[in-house]
Amino acid sequence: MTRLENYLSEQEKKIQETLGNEQALLATSGGVDSSVCAALISKAVPGQLVCVFVDHGFMRMDEPNQIEEMFSNWKVKFIRVNAQDRFLIKLAGVSDPEKKRKIIGEEFIHIFEEEANKLGKIPYLAQGTIYPDIIESSGKHGVVKSHHNVGGLPERLDFKGIIEPLANLYKPQVRDLGRLLGLPDNMVDRQPFPGPGLAIRIMGEITREKLNIVKKADAIARQELDRLPNGDRPNQYFAVLTDTYTVGVKNETRTYDPVVAIRAVNTADFMKCEYTPLPHDVLGRMARRIAGEIEGVSRVVYDITDKPPGTLEWE
Ligand code: XMP
Repeated sequence: MTRLENYLSEQEKKIQETLGNEQALLATSGGVDSSVCAALISKAVPGQLVCVFVDHGFMRMDEPNQIEEMFSNWKVKFIRVNAQDRFLIKLAGVSDPEKKRKIIGEEFIHIFEEEANKLGKIPYLAQGTIYPDIIESSGKHGVVKSHHNVGGLPERLDFKGIIEPLANLYKPQVRDLGRLLGLPDNMVDRQPFPGPGLAIRIMGEITREKLNIVKKADAIARQELDRLPNGDRPNQYFAVLTDTYTVGVKNETRTYDPVVAIRAVNTADFMKCEYTPLPHDVLGRMARRIAGEIEGVSRVVYDITDKPPGTLEWE
């Protein structure tokens, strides 16, 4: 048995002992951690895990359906809450980045709480917390941006206990565990994606129209970069919709539309990063497609800022 296989069977046993025949509730984001956590628990105690997936509408193109499909392979109860409109209403007129993050975090907890209450008493809360989450939330480094993944839920809802089967693992081990549990490669190797999603990649106020633009731009940026051989691909890459408007010309008509920025970085730990010097043919193809194919984009620029001084996300 490998060390990871050992870890898996230890965690399964622990979960079985803790839960007995009781249920656990998991807020799933569709990210690697909560998905691996769900797969592990469903293997340990088939049918006893209830997963609540709040679709806030800020996921990447087609992602919510892919997540739902993946979860349908496991013996869990999967509840999808289509809350796109609720989030857009709460965020109307808000352009401050921290306020946007706070509103999304709070609304997420509200909706999760509502669903939990509808389900009646579920004794245990499961969380896909991994080791670096615990370190980062210890507050040593001060808050640069409020991440809404950790904390909040256990204090608000009354649980008999919390199950965190990934709490001793670093990200690469979580990915390996995911592979061991049979998760598809495209899920296990996913780039990090912020909890507030595309909402913090739209500068300023969020509207349905801007959301559609950033979704399309992000999909094109990823398609073009995914064509690179695995080793040449940056660690994280995405599109940002800026609130700078510029003049352009399309079909011989003057336009006045926002600028899309592309961000691509290499990093060991996401605490620091270097911008990726992407080949110009790749950048050119992305720019041509994004400005050419998407209605409402005037031009495309490339962000060449390291972290520090710039964070990865723009908000
Ligand atoms: P920053 O922008 O802080 O991003 O340099 C560092 C890494 O963290 C991701 N990120 C988040 N991840 N919830 C998350 O789970 C969040 O609220 C959040 N904000 C940023 C970001 O995508 C990058 O990988």
